[in-house]
Amino acid sequence: IPVQPFDYVVFGATGDLTKRKLIPALYHRFHDGQFDEQSHIIGVSRSKLSDEEFRTLARDSVHEFVEAEYQDEAVIARFVSIFSYVSIDVSNREGWTDLGPALREDPKVVRAFYLAVAPDLFGPICQYLKDKGYYRRDARVVVEKPLGHDLASSGQINDAISEIFAEDQVYRIDHYLGKETVQNLLALRFANILFEPIWNSAHIDHIQLTVAESVGAGTRGYYDESGALRDMIQNHMLQLLCLVAMEPPASDEANALRDEKLKVLRSLKPIRGEAVGRCTVRGQYRGVSSEGTSVKGYQDELPAEKKGSRTETFVALKAEIENWRWSGVPFYFRTGKRMATRVSEIVIQFRTIPHSIFDHAEGAPRPNRLIIRLQPDEGVRMLMMIKDPGPGGMRLREVPLNLSFAETFSERTPEAYERLLLDVIRGNQTLFMRRDELEAAWSWVDPIRSAWDTGNDAPQPYSAGTWGPTGAIALIERDGRTWHEDGH
Ligand code: BG6
Repeated sequence: IPVQPFDYVVFGATGDLTKRKLIPALYHRFHDGQFDEQSHIIGVSRSKLSDEEFRTLARDSVHEFVEAEYQDEAVIARFVSIFSYVSIDVSNREGWTDLGPALREDPKVVRAFYLAVAPDLFGPICQYLKDKGYYRRDARVVVEKPLGHDLASSGQINDAISEIFAEDQVYRIDHYLGKETVQNLLALRFANILFEPIWNSAHIDHIQLTVAESVGAGTRGYYDESGALRDMIQNHMLQLLCLVAMEPPASDEANALRDEKLKVLRSLKPIRGEAVGRCTVRGQYRGVSSEGTSVKGYQDELPAEKKGSRTETFVALKAEIENWRWSGVPFYFRTGKRMATRVSEIVIQFRTIPHSIFDHAEGAPRPNRLIIRLQPDEGVRMLMMIKDPGPGGMRLREVPLNLSFAETFSERTPEAYERLLLDVIRGNQTLFMRRDELEAAWSWVDPIRSAWDTGNDAPQPYSAGTWGPTGAIALIERDGRTWHEDGH
Protein backbone atom coordinates (compact mmCIF):
# COMPACT_ATOMS: atom_id res chain seq x y z
CA ILE A 1 0.00 0.00 0.00
CA PRO A 2 1.51 3.36 -0.98
CA VAL A 3 2.32 5.73 1.86
CA GLN A 4 1.19 9.35 2.08
CA PRO A 5 3.39 11.82 0.17
CA PHE A 6 6.25 13.13 2.28
CA ASP A 7 9.09 15.61 2.61
CA TYR A 8 12.00 13.63 4.09
CA VAL A 9 14.77 15.96 5.16
CA VAL A 10 18.01 14.04 5.62
CA PHE A 11 20.70 15.78 7.67
CA GLY A 12 24.10 14.23 6.99
CA ALA A 13 23.09 13.75 3.37
CA THR A 14 26.60 13.16 2.04
CA GLY A 15 27.57 10.72 4.81
CA ASP A 16 28.16 7.00 4.73
CA LEU A 17 24.84 5.94 6.25
CA THR A 18 22.89 7.94 3.65
CA LYS A 19 24.82 6.47 0.76
CA ARG A 20 25.01 2.87 1.94
CA LYS A 21 21.67 2.39 3.63
CA LEU A 22 19.12 5.19 3.35
CA ILE A 23 19.18 5.90 -0.39
CA PRO A 24 19.24 2.21 -1.42
CA ALA A 25 16.39 1.46 0.99
CA LEU A 26 14.29 4.35 -0.33
CA TYR A 27 15.05 3.26 -3.87
CA HIS A 28 13.72 -0.23 -3.27
CA ARG A 29 10.48 1.14 -1.85
CA PHE A 30 10.14 3.57 -4.77
CA HIS A 31 10.89 0.77 -7.21
CA ASP A 32 8.07 -1.28 -5.67
CA GLY A 33 5.66 1.63 -6.02
CA GLN A 34 5.26 2.47 -2.35
CA PHE A 35 5.73 6.14 -3.05
CA ASP A 36 6.15 8.26 -6.16
CA GLU A 37 7.20 11.68 -7.43
CA GLN A 38 4.72 13.37 -5.06
CA SER A 39 7.27 12.72 -2.32
CA HIS A 40 10.48 14.68 -1.89
CA ILE A 41 13.83 13.84 -0.37
CA ILE A 42 15.76 16.89 0.71
CA GLY A 43 19.43 16.40 1.51
CA VAL A 44 21.12 18.72 3.97
CA SER A 45 24.79 18.97 4.81
CA ARG A 46 27.57 21.51 4.98
CA SER A 47 29.09 20.72 1.55
CA LYS A 48 28.14 23.09 -1.23
CA LEU A 49 26.33 20.90 -3.73
CA SER A 50 23.78 21.71 -6.40
CA ASP A 51 20.55 19.72 -6.69
CA GLU A 52 22.05 18.10 -9.74
CA GLU A 53 25.21 17.05 -7.89
CA PHE A 54 23.13 15.55 -5.10
CA ARG A 55 21.09 13.61 -7.64
CA THR A 56 24.32 12.24 -9.03
CA LEU A 57 25.30 11.14 -5.53
CA ALA A 58 21.93 9.40 -5.17
CA ARG A 59 22.30 7.71 -8.57
CA ASP A 60 25.81 6.52 -7.67
CA SER A 61 24.56 5.15 -4.40
CA VAL A 62 21.87 3.12 -6.18
CA HIS A 63 24.40 1.85 -8.70
CA GLU A 64 26.82 0.84 -5.98
CA PHE A 65 24.57 -0.54 -3.25
CA VAL A 66 21.43 -1.90 -4.93
CA GLU A 67 21.50 -5.44 -6.34
CA ALA A 68 22.02 -5.28 -10.12
CA GLU A 69 18.73 -7.03 -10.94
CA TYR A 70 16.75 -4.16 -9.37
CA GLN A 71 18.63 -1.39 -11.15
CA ASP A 72 16.30 -0.02 -13.77
CA GLU A 73 17.59 3.19 -15.36
CA ALA A 74 14.12 4.55 -16.09
CA VAL A 75 13.08 4.03 -12.46
CA ILE A 76 16.38 5.46 -11.20
CA ALA A 77 15.82 8.61 -13.29
CA ARG A 78 12.35 9.10 -11.79
CA PHE A 79 13.70 8.31 -8.31
CA VAL A 80 16.53 10.85 -8.36
CA SER A 81 14.19 13.52 -9.72
CA ILE A 82 12.59 13.74 -6.25
CA PHE A 83 15.95 14.66 -4.65
CA SER A 84 16.95 18.22 -3.89
CA TYR A 85 19.69 19.70 -1.77
CA VAL A 86 20.19 22.50 0.74
CA SER A 87 23.58 23.43 2.14
CA ILE A 88 23.46 24.28 5.85
CA ASP A 89 26.15 24.36 8.49
CA VAL A 90 23.93 22.92 11.21
CA SER A 91 26.23 23.98 14.03
CA ASN A 92 25.42 27.54 13.08
CA ARG A 93 22.18 29.42 13.64
CA GLU A 94 22.60 31.30 10.35
CA GLY A 95 21.89 30.06 6.84
CA TRP A 96 18.78 27.96 7.51
CA THR A 97 16.42 30.01 5.38
CA ASP A 98 17.03 27.96 2.22
CA LEU A 99 15.26 24.99 3.77
CA GLY A 100 11.96 26.87 3.92
CA PRO A 101 11.06 26.83 0.22
CA ALA A 102 11.88 23.10 0.04
CA LEU A 103 9.18 22.22 2.58
CA ARG A 104 5.53 22.03 1.67
CA GLU A 105 2.92 23.44 4.02
CA ASP A 106 0.16 21.07 2.91
CA PRO A 107 -0.76 19.09 6.07
CA LYS A 108 -1.28 15.97 3.93
CA VAL A 109 2.44 15.96 3.14
CA VAL A 110 4.20 14.17 6.01
CA ARG A 111 7.24 16.04 7.26
CA ALA A 112 10.14 13.96 8.62
CA PHE A 113 13.64 14.97 9.70
CA TYR A 114 16.26 12.23 9.64
CA LEU A 115 19.31 13.16 11.71
CA ALA A 116 22.17 11.08 10.30
CA VAL A 117 24.72 13.26 12.09
CA ALA A 118 26.73 13.17 15.33
CA PRO A 119 24.43 13.07 18.39
CA ASP A 120 25.79 16.29 19.85
CA LEU A 121 24.10 18.03 16.90
CA PHE A 122 20.64 16.55 17.61
CA GLY A 123 19.79 19.18 20.21
CA PRO A 124 20.89 22.21 18.17
CA ILE A 125 19.21 20.93 15.00
CA CYS A 126 15.88 20.40 16.79
CA GLN A 127 16.15 23.85 18.31
CA TYR A 128 16.91 25.56 15.00
CA LEU A 129 14.10 23.69 13.26
CA LYS A 130 11.74 25.16 15.80
CA ASP A 131 13.26 28.67 15.75
CA LYS A 132 13.10 28.83 11.97
CA GLY A 133 9.47 27.72 11.88
CA TYR A 134 10.02 24.28 10.28
CA TYR A 135 8.66 22.39 13.26
CA ARG A 136 5.10 21.09 13.11
CA ARG A 137 3.28 19.15 15.82
CA ASP A 138 2.82 16.28 13.37
CA ALA A 139 6.43 16.32 12.11
CA ARG A 140 8.68 13.38 12.95
CA VAL A 141 12.32 13.19 13.90
CA VAL A 142 14.45 10.09 13.34
CA VAL A 143 17.65 9.49 15.29
CA GLU A 144 20.31 6.82 15.15
CA LYS A 145 22.74 5.34 17.60
CA PRO A 146 24.95 6.09 19.37
CA LEU A 147 22.29 7.67 21.55
CA GLY A 148 24.82 8.47 24.24
CA HIS A 149 27.61 6.42 25.76
CA ASP A 150 25.94 5.89 29.13
CA LEU A 151 22.71 6.66 30.95
CA ALA A 152 23.65 10.25 31.74
CA SER A 153 24.72 11.21 28.22
CA SER A 154 21.75 9.44 26.68
CA GLY A 155 19.51 11.40 29.05
CA GLN A 156 21.05 14.66 27.87
CA ILE A 157 20.50 13.80 24.22
CA ASN A 158 16.90 12.79 24.85
CA ASP A 159 16.27 15.90 26.94
CA ALA A 160 17.53 18.08 24.11
CA ILE A 161 15.28 16.36 21.58
CA SER A 162 12.26 16.41 23.87
CA GLU A 163 12.58 20.17 24.39
CA ILE A 164 11.05 20.36 20.93
CA PHE A 165 9.60 17.01 19.90
CA ALA A 166 7.09 14.97 21.92
CA GLU A 167 7.79 11.28 22.45
CA ASP A 168 5.20 10.29 19.82
CA GLN A 169 7.22 12.25 17.25
CA VAL A 170 10.59 10.64 18.03
CA TYR A 171 11.73 7.57 16.09
CA ARG A 172 14.87 6.02 17.64
CA ILE A 173 16.29 3.52 15.21
CA ASP A 174 17.64 0.16 16.22
CA HIS A 175 18.03 -1.36 12.81
CA TYR A 176 17.85 -4.91 14.23
CA LEU A 177 14.14 -4.35 14.83
CA GLY A 178 13.70 -3.70 11.11
CA LYS A 179 15.17 -7.07 10.15
CA GLU A 180 12.58 -9.47 8.77
CA THR A 181 13.81 -12.36 10.86
CA VAL A 182 13.72 -10.30 14.04
CA GLN A 183 10.10 -9.40 13.40
CA ASN A 184 9.51 -13.03 12.71
CA LEU A 185 10.24 -13.73 16.36
CA LEU A 186 6.88 -12.12 17.09
CA ALA A 187 5.11 -14.31 14.56
CA LEU A 188 6.84 -17.44 15.77
CA ARG A 189 5.92 -16.81 19.38
CA PHE A 190 2.49 -15.26 19.06
CA ALA A 191 1.00 -16.68 15.88
CA ASN A 192 1.57 -20.31 16.90
CA ILE A 193 0.08 -22.08 19.86
CA LEU A 194 2.89 -24.62 20.10
CA PHE A 195 5.57 -22.61 21.78
CA GLU A 196 3.93 -20.36 24.31
CA PRO A 197 2.94 -23.08 26.83
CA ILE A 198 6.53 -24.30 27.05
CA TRP A 199 8.20 -20.89 26.77
CA ASN A 200 9.26 -20.68 30.40
CA SER A 201 11.62 -21.98 33.05
CA ALA A 202 9.67 -25.21 33.51
CA HIS A 203 10.62 -26.30 29.97
CA ILE A 204 13.57 -24.18 28.91
CA ASP A 205 17.04 -24.87 30.26
CA HIS A 206 18.80 -21.81 28.87
CA ILE A 207 18.93 -19.46 25.89
CA GLN A 208 21.91 -18.40 23.80
CA LEU A 209 22.11 -15.22 21.75
CA THR A 210 24.99 -14.95 19.31
CA VAL A 211 25.84 -12.11 16.93
CA ALA A 212 29.18 -12.99 15.42
CA GLU A 213 30.79 -10.90 12.70
CA SER A 214 33.80 -11.70 10.58
CA VAL A 215 34.68 -8.06 9.84
CA GLY A 216 37.20 -6.14 11.93
CA ALA A 217 36.69 -2.81 13.70
CA GLY A 218 40.00 -1.07 14.26
CA THR A 219 39.76 1.21 11.25
CA ARG A 220 36.38 2.63 12.31
CA GLY A 221 37.12 5.75 14.35
CA TYR A 222 33.97 5.55 16.43
CA TYR A 223 34.42 1.95 17.50
CA ASP A 224 37.32 2.48 19.84
CA GLU A 225 35.24 4.89 21.91
CA SER A 226 32.41 2.43 22.01
CA GLY A 227 33.43 -1.24 22.18
CA ALA A 228 31.22 -4.28 21.75
CA LEU A 229 29.17 -3.81 24.91
CA ARG A 230 27.87 -0.41 23.81
CA ASP A 231 27.95 -1.10 20.08
CA MET A 232 26.00 -4.38 20.07
CA ILE A 233 24.73 -5.48 23.48
CA GLN A 234 23.19 -2.28 24.85
CA ASN A 235 20.97 -1.93 21.80
CA HIS A 236 20.64 -4.73 19.26
CA MET A 237 21.11 -7.73 21.50
CA LEU A 238 19.03 -6.45 24.39
CA GLN A 239 16.26 -5.79 21.89
CA LEU A 240 16.53 -9.40 20.72
CA LEU A 241 16.38 -10.51 24.32
CA CYS A 242 13.23 -8.47 24.84
CA LEU A 243 11.44 -10.07 21.90
CA VAL A 244 12.41 -13.54 23.04
CA ALA A 245 11.60 -13.05 26.70
CA MET A 246 8.67 -10.62 26.88
CA GLU A 247 5.14 -11.52 27.92
CA PRO A 248 2.53 -11.65 25.15
CA PRO A 249 1.52 -8.03 24.50
CA ALA A 250 -2.16 -7.15 24.45
CA SER A 251 -1.91 -6.09 20.79
CA ASP A 252 0.68 -5.23 18.18
CA GLU A 253 0.21 -1.56 18.90
CA ALA A 254 3.51 0.26 19.52
CA ASN A 255 3.10 1.00 23.19
CA ALA A 256 1.63 -2.40 24.02
CA LEU A 257 4.80 -3.97 22.66
CA ARG A 258 7.15 -1.44 24.16
CA ASP A 259 5.56 -1.78 27.61
CA GLU A 260 6.35 -5.50 27.56
CA LYS A 261 9.90 -4.98 26.34
CA LEU A 262 10.47 -2.45 29.07
CA LYS A 263 9.37 -4.94 31.72
CA VAL A 264 12.03 -7.39 30.53
CA LEU A 265 14.75 -4.76 30.70
CA ARG A 266 13.67 -3.71 34.15
CA SER A 267 13.68 -7.32 35.35
CA LEU A 268 17.27 -7.95 34.30
CA LYS A 269 19.34 -8.89 37.31
CA PRO A 270 22.00 -6.21 37.74
CA ILE A 271 25.57 -7.32 37.09
CA ARG A 272 27.78 -5.19 39.25
CA GLY A 273 30.76 -5.40 41.61
CA GLU A 274 32.30 -8.85 41.84
CA ALA A 275 29.52 -10.35 39.67
CA VAL A 276 31.09 -8.58 36.68
CA GLY A 277 34.14 -10.83 36.86
CA ARG A 278 31.95 -13.92 37.18
CA CYS A 279 29.31 -13.14 34.55
CA THR A 280 31.18 -11.28 31.81
CA VAL A 281 34.17 -11.88 29.56
CA ARG A 282 35.63 -9.39 27.14
CA GLY A 283 38.14 -10.00 24.44
CA GLN A 284 40.17 -8.24 21.78
CA TYR A 285 41.29 -9.93 18.58
CA ARG A 286 44.91 -10.32 17.70
CA GLY A 287 46.36 -10.85 14.27
CA VAL A 288 47.05 -14.21 12.73
CA SER A 289 49.13 -15.24 9.80
CA SER A 290 49.38 -18.61 8.22
CA GLU A 291 50.37 -19.88 4.81
CA GLY A 292 50.94 -16.50 3.29
CA THR A 293 47.65 -14.93 4.40
CA SER A 294 47.54 -12.67 7.38
CA VAL A 295 44.82 -10.79 9.23
CA LYS A 296 45.69 -7.76 11.30
CA GLY A 297 44.95 -7.61 14.99
CA TYR A 298 42.79 -4.83 16.44
CA GLN A 299 45.87 -3.03 17.81
CA ASP A 300 47.59 -3.12 14.42
CA GLU A 301 44.59 -1.47 12.78
CA LEU A 302 44.42 1.42 15.22
CA PRO A 303 46.06 4.78 14.50
CA ALA A 304 49.26 5.44 16.47
CA GLU A 305 47.63 7.59 19.15
CA LYS A 306 45.21 4.82 20.10
CA LYS A 307 47.70 1.98 20.42
CA GLY A 308 47.36 0.14 23.69
CA SER A 309 43.58 0.60 23.68
CA ARG A 310 41.67 -1.69 26.03
CA THR A 311 38.47 -1.49 24.00
CA GLU A 312 36.72 -4.85 23.78
CA THR A 313 35.92 -6.29 20.37
CA PHE A 314 34.17 -9.29 21.93
CA VAL A 315 31.81 -9.77 24.85
CA ALA A 316 30.27 -12.87 26.36
CA LEU A 317 27.99 -12.60 29.33
CA LYS A 318 25.46 -14.44 31.36
CA ALA A 319 22.27 -12.55 32.11
CA GLU A 320 19.28 -13.46 34.22
CA ILE A 321 15.73 -12.16 34.20
CA GLU A 322 14.17 -11.97 37.59
CA ASN A 323 10.51 -12.71 36.97
CA TRP A 324 8.12 -15.66 37.20
CA ARG A 325 8.62 -16.87 33.67
CA TRP A 326 12.40 -16.87 33.59
CA SER A 327 13.62 -17.40 37.13
CA GLY A 328 16.68 -19.64 37.01
CA VAL A 329 17.05 -19.61 33.19
CA PRO A 330 20.39 -18.13 32.10
CA PHE A 331 20.64 -16.11 28.91
CA TYR A 332 24.14 -16.38 27.45
CA PHE A 333 25.17 -13.60 25.08
CA ARG A 334 28.18 -13.45 22.83
CA THR A 335 29.14 -10.99 20.15
CA GLY A 336 32.39 -10.07 18.51
CA LYS A 337 34.32 -8.86 15.52
CA ARG A 338 36.68 -11.03 13.47
CA MET A 339 35.05 -14.20 14.60
CA ALA A 340 35.07 -17.56 12.85
CA THR A 341 32.08 -16.69 10.69
CA ARG A 342 29.23 -14.20 10.32
CA VAL A 343 26.18 -15.56 12.05
CA SER A 344 23.39 -14.22 14.23
CA GLU A 345 21.22 -16.73 15.95
CA ILE A 346 19.14 -17.44 18.98
CA VAL A 347 19.20 -20.91 20.46
CA ILE A 348 16.48 -22.03 22.84
CA GLN A 349 17.62 -25.13 24.64
CA PHE A 350 14.80 -27.07 26.25
CA ARG A 351 15.16 -29.22 29.33
CA THR A 352 16.05 -32.89 29.17
CA ILE A 353 13.11 -35.28 29.24
CA PRO A 354 12.07 -36.12 32.80
CA HIS A 355 12.53 -39.89 32.36
CA SER A 356 13.98 -41.94 29.56
CA ILE A 357 12.42 -45.27 28.59
CA PHE A 358 15.27 -45.91 26.17
CA ASP A 359 17.72 -47.61 28.48
CA HIS A 360 18.51 -50.23 25.85
CA ALA A 361 18.66 -47.87 22.91
CA GLU A 362 21.78 -46.72 21.19
CA GLY A 363 22.27 -42.99 21.79
CA ALA A 364 20.72 -41.09 24.68
CA PRO A 365 17.90 -38.58 24.06
CA ARG A 366 19.35 -35.07 23.80
CA PRO A 367 17.46 -31.97 24.81
CA ASN A 368 15.50 -30.31 22.00
CA ARG A 369 16.91 -27.10 20.62
CA LEU A 370 15.05 -24.45 18.68
CA ILE A 371 17.48 -22.47 16.55
CA ILE A 372 16.34 -19.19 15.11
CA ARG A 373 18.81 -18.07 12.48
CA LEU A 374 18.60 -14.31 11.95
CA GLN A 375 21.34 -14.03 9.34
CA PRO A 376 22.66 -15.26 6.98
CA ASP A 377 20.61 -18.26 5.69
CA GLU A 378 17.57 -17.11 7.63
CA GLY A 379 15.41 -19.84 9.02
CA VAL A 380 14.14 -21.79 11.97
CA ARG A 381 15.30 -25.28 12.94
CA MET A 382 14.07 -27.56 15.64
CA LEU A 383 16.46 -30.30 16.67
CA MET A 384 14.39 -33.40 17.44
CA MET A 385 15.14 -36.95 18.48
CA ILE A 386 13.93 -39.62 16.08
CA LYS A 387 14.42 -43.31 15.57
CA ASP A 388 17.06 -44.02 13.01
CA PRO A 389 15.29 -45.99 10.27
CA GLY A 390 16.25 -49.62 10.00
CA PRO A 391 15.51 -53.01 11.46
CA GLY A 392 18.36 -52.95 13.98
CA GLY A 393 16.39 -51.91 17.05
CA MET A 394 16.00 -48.52 18.65
CA ARG A 395 18.76 -46.16 17.65
CA LEU A 396 18.11 -42.53 18.63
CA ARG A 397 19.32 -39.73 16.42
CA GLU A 398 19.05 -35.96 16.50
CA VAL A 399 17.61 -34.54 13.26
CA PRO A 400 16.55 -31.00 12.38
CA LEU A 401 13.04 -30.05 11.41
CA ASN A 402 14.11 -27.38 9.00
CA LEU A 403 12.39 -24.21 7.78
CA SER A 404 14.65 -22.34 5.41
CA PHE A 405 13.32 -18.96 4.30
CA ALA A 406 15.24 -19.07 1.03
CA GLU A 407 13.69 -22.42 0.11
CA THR A 408 10.20 -21.44 1.26
CA PHE A 409 9.87 -17.94 -0.17
CA SER A 410 10.88 -16.65 -3.55
CA GLU A 411 10.54 -12.96 -2.64
CA ARG A 412 13.60 -10.87 -1.90
CA THR A 413 14.00 -10.15 1.82
CA PRO A 414 13.86 -6.38 2.33
CA GLU A 415 16.62 -4.64 4.27
CA ALA A 416 15.85 -3.31 7.73
CA TYR A 417 15.86 0.35 6.66
CA GLU A 418 13.22 -0.20 3.98
CA ARG A 419 10.65 -1.04 6.60
CA LEU A 420 11.84 1.49 9.17
CA LEU A 421 12.03 4.53 6.87
CA LEU A 422 8.47 4.05 5.69
CA ASP A 423 7.15 3.23 9.17
CA VAL A 424 8.18 6.78 10.07
CA ILE A 425 5.92 8.07 7.31
CA ARG A 426 3.14 5.70 8.36
CA GLY A 427 3.48 7.05 11.90
CA ASN A 428 4.08 3.55 13.27
CA GLN A 429 6.51 3.51 16.21
CA THR A 430 6.30 -0.23 16.93
CA LEU A 431 9.82 -0.98 15.69
CA PHE A 432 11.45 2.03 17.35
CA MET A 433 12.78 2.35 20.89
CA ARG A 434 10.95 4.40 23.42
CA ARG A 435 13.03 6.58 25.71
CA ASP A 436 12.36 4.51 28.85
CA GLU A 437 13.52 1.33 27.09
CA LEU A 438 16.73 2.95 26.01
CA GLU A 439 17.38 4.21 29.49
CA ALA A 440 16.60 0.87 31.14
CA ALA A 441 19.14 -0.72 28.78
CA TRP A 442 21.80 1.82 29.72
CA SER A 443 21.07 1.36 33.41
CA TRP A 444 21.85 -2.33 33.10
CA VAL A 445 24.96 -1.88 30.96
CA ASP A 446 26.58 1.01 32.85
CA PRO A 447 27.74 -0.92 35.95
CA ILE A 448 29.41 -3.55 33.74
CA ARG A 449 31.19 -0.86 31.81
CA SER A 450 32.34 0.99 34.89
CA ALA A 451 33.62 -2.19 36.59
CA TRP A 452 35.69 -2.88 33.48
CA ASP A 453 36.93 0.69 33.29
CA THR A 454 38.01 0.84 36.91
CA GLY A 455 39.48 -2.70 37.10
CA ASN A 456 43.02 -3.58 36.14
CA ASP A 457 42.18 -6.39 33.76
CA ALA A 458 42.65 -6.00 30.05
CA PRO A 459 40.40 -7.78 27.54
CA GLN A 460 41.50 -11.36 26.89
CA PRO A 461 43.18 -11.82 23.53
CA TYR A 462 41.64 -14.13 20.92
CA SER A 463 42.93 -14.96 17.49
CA ALA A 464 41.11 -13.41 14.55
CA GLY A 465 38.90 -16.03 12.93
CA THR A 466 37.99 -17.90 16.12
CA TRP A 467 34.99 -18.00 18.48
CA GLY A 468 36.54 -15.61 21.00
CA PRO A 469 38.73 -15.98 24.07
CA THR A 470 38.85 -19.19 26.11
CA GLY A 471 37.17 -17.34 28.96
CA ALA A 472 33.96 -17.27 26.90
CA ILE A 473 33.96 -21.05 26.69
CA ALA A 474 34.68 -21.31 30.40
CA LEU A 475 31.79 -18.93 31.14
CA ILE A 476 29.20 -21.38 29.82
CA GLU A 477 31.04 -24.63 30.56
CA ARG A 478 31.24 -23.77 34.26
CA ASP A 479 27.48 -24.18 34.24
CA GLY A 480 27.72 -27.56 32.52
CA ARG A 481 26.57 -26.18 29.15
CA THR A 482 28.21 -25.54 25.78
CA TRP A 483 27.89 -22.93 23.05
CA HIS A 484 25.87 -24.15 20.14
CA GLU A 485 27.96 -24.87 17.05
CA ASP A 486 26.48 -25.97 13.77
CA GLY A 487 26.47 -29.72 13.41
CA HIS A 488 25.80 -30.33 17.10
C1 BG6 B 1 25.93 -1.62 13.90
C2 BG6 B 1 27.24 -1.67 14.62
O1 BG6 B 1 24.94 -1.00 14.69
O2 BG6 B 1 25.52 -2.94 13.59
C3 BG6 B 1 28.28 -2.37 13.80
O3 BG6 B 1 27.68 -0.35 14.91
C4 BG6 B 1 27.80 -3.73 13.37
O4 BG6 B 1 29.51 -2.51 14.53
C5 BG6 B 1 26.41 -3.64 12.75
O5 BG6 B 1 28.72 -4.25 12.44
C6 BG6 B 1 25.85 -5.02 12.50
O6 BG6 B 1 24.69 -4.92 11.72
P1 BG6 B 1 24.26 -6.07 10.73
O7 BG6 B 1 22.96 -5.60 10.20
O8 BG6 B 1 25.34 -6.19 9.72
O9 BG6 B 1 24.16 -7.31 11.57
